[in-house]
Amino acid sequence: MGRSGGFLFRRLGERVNIVLIHLRQEIQTDPHRIRIDQFLDDLGAAFVRMSDGPGLARTIEGPLPMPRLWILSDLHLEAAPFPDAYDPPRPGFDVLVAAGDIWRGGPEKAVATVARLAAGRPAVFVAGNHEPWGMTPARCMARLKRAAKGTDVTVLDGEGAAIAGVRFIGATLWADGLLSGLHLRPLQTTGEGVLSPSGQGTITHGDEAALHAAERRRIAALLEQAPDGLPMVVVTHHAPLTDRMPPGLRAHPGAGLFASDLSTLMTGNRIALWVYGHIHAREDRLHDSGARIVANPAGPLFSTPGFEDDCVVTVGAGMDLKTRRED
Ligand SMILES: [Fe+2]
Repeated sequence: MGRSGGFLFRRLGERVNIVLIHLRQEIQTDPHRIRIDQFLDDLGAAFVRMSDGPGLARTIEGPLPMPRLWILSDLHLEAAPFPDAYDPPRPGFDVLVAAGDIWRGGPEKAVATVARLAAGRPAVFVAGNHEPWGMTPARCMARLKRAAKGTDVTVLDGEGAAIAGVRFIGATLWADGLLSGLHLRPLQTTGEGVLSPSGQGTITHGDEAALHAAERRRIAALLEQAPDGLPMVVVTHHAPLTDRMPPGLRAHPGAGLFASDLSTLMTGNRIALWVYGHIHAREDRLHDSGARIVANPAGPLFSTPGFEDDCVVTVGAGMDLKTRRED
């Protein structure tokens, strides 16, 4: 409310300096030269109206995007006797963000569930460690991508996507094992039912550390390459910080499978929001870097204390974040 803006430009397809104007007196000139049509695509057509202005300039007027992200993860509907019964009243939202472990061993069911919940609106989904149960992570990803084709679900696998005025960067992430010394036992299997990327046996700590390193590099590159102008939201399944591990989990010998310390990625980049799952504990806090960190995992049979099935976070173009719960 009370916030709108305009984009002054000359011609579609032309590379110009975009001037972003916040009418609530925050005037921010952001003179990066980009293609206007690309910029508009990134914003999403829903957020702009075009009108011819006088003279050489044309003006686009409309509200700046303040996308509302509906956040959840770890539904683990494979454990639910009636999975379709999970049909909560939809909060007011623009993009559903599902941070993995929706359905163990069921990539197609996971995508179908996310699409069902999003109910025609766009959704962003990253695979958890449970989606690839019984298969390699690569095989799972191929099935997820195929299932998502033609739907409004965008599956991110070390990839970025601009949706509804937000630049999403998503990956499973996995974990480096450092938290509990698991990196010292690279050949030991993790106990998860995921096949090793090599196709030989089940996944090992070394496999997970390698997947983590590759995905971490990919996220770092995407953060670095992302053009300015859109708020950046990172979505991972595994946790990006280790400092608030729940005490019971910290003492677990497999603690290093849950979280890794990616704080340098936060301090080195302008991240608006980092969404994760995997640890079945609710979290919503502001990191020193300014990144908001949110986890809203349901857990098997919705067992996570504090899980909210109407957790909506609004991401503003000016890094202005607030939680909005819509009844
Ligand atoms: Fe998980």
